[in-house]
Amino acid sequence: MPEHAKPGHSLGPVGWGYSTLVSGLPLRRDEGCPVCRAMPLRDPHGAHTPAGLSVWPAGQRSPATQRRGLFVPGSGTHPARMLPDLARHAIHTFSPHRGIVLDPLVGSGTTLVAALLAGRDAVGVEYEPHWADLARANAAHAARQAGGGTWLVQRGDATRLPARLPRLLRGRVDLILTSPPYGRTMHGRVEHRRGPLTRFANRYGPPDPASLAHRGLAGIAAGMRSVLAGSMMLLRPGGFVVITVRPWRRDGVLHDLPGALAQVAIEVGLQPVQQCVALLAAIRDGHLLARHSFHQLTVTRASRAAGTPVLLPQHEDVLVLRAPTGRDHSPAPGAGAR
Ligand SMILES: C[S@@+](CC[C@H](N)C(=O)[O-])C[C@H]1O[C@@H](n2cnc3c(N)ncnc32)[C@H](O)[C@@H]1O
Repeated sequence: MPEHAKPGHSLGPVGWGYSTLVSGLPLRRDEGCPVCRAMPLRDPHGAHTPAGLSVWPAGQRSPATQRRGLFVPGSGTHPARMLPDLARHAIHTFSPHRGIVLDPLVGSGTTLVAALLAGRDAVGVEYEPHWADLARANAAHAARQAGGGTWLVQRGDATRLPARLPRLLRGRVDLILTSPPYGRTMHGRVEHRRGPLTRFANRYGPPDPASLAHRGLAGIAAGMRSVLAGSMMLLRPGGFVVITVRPWRRDGVLHDLPGALAQVAIEVGLQPVQQCVALLAAIRDGHLLARHSFHQLTVTRASRAAGTPVLLPQHEDVLVLRAPTGRDHSPAPGAGAR
């Protein structure tokens, strides 16, 4: 066992690259990562914390600052982009340097950009051709900035994985990092700088049964079950799956999408590791500074005016799961490849 992997090893001062959980699993702390930097290394009693906390302060920088210079023009038209600092934190925490990161629902390509800039190779699948082209443009831009890196964006239906991805990827992916599309009320921006108050960047393509973006809760969960079942074939034994997801509100009713996805992930044979919280608010002088779009504010206000006492969401759930290691790496019944 390497020195750093000994149980009970002291985690050392700021600047260490590796730390270790008692199990010997190396977790990585990246000193350039704004989320890591916002996490204390010691608890109030002076004891070292593990490499990270289950609350990820992903909103220390504004979304615009996080994205500046990393994406090609037009990327802001995607209705549901992941925060780059959130993607970056998940990638260096749960995948090794030079590892392979896959996003089967890649959208504008945020996860690919974060992976390439972190020295990983990146694979994405996207159903809508327009977003697949955008993800390709963003991945190419990131690879240029990173001075290299291998990437692939496949236009296709991720519920049919691993078909259409190169066979050599099977059993090789270190991390699947993704987020599902969900209802209209979660998406879009509202602004008045173009004249009257208008909602924009809130649309996927026309309704299509293969797209998860037009489904209700049960349909999204069923689709994600297929996506994860196929992705299992690509994951290496012990590889990680990280899903960022919010509870979903439709017609005033809250649906537990994180719970539904955790359940389907377990059904296809993934092992739950932890459920974390990605904080979208910034922490400033010990207080939370809300970061929300005008659209989210208007939706929350309308819900309250209609008698539902909702609070402005300032977090996402982060589900962390793992493929079985070694000989356990066989899919659950009904979780086959096509
Ligand atoms: C939440 S968005 C991903 C956003 C992405 N993380 C980003 O930062 O841009 C989910 C994406 O899944 C895509 N999608 C929906 N159904 C799909 C399917 N069956 N196969 C592949 N992609 C699908 C949608 O078009 C959408 O772009």
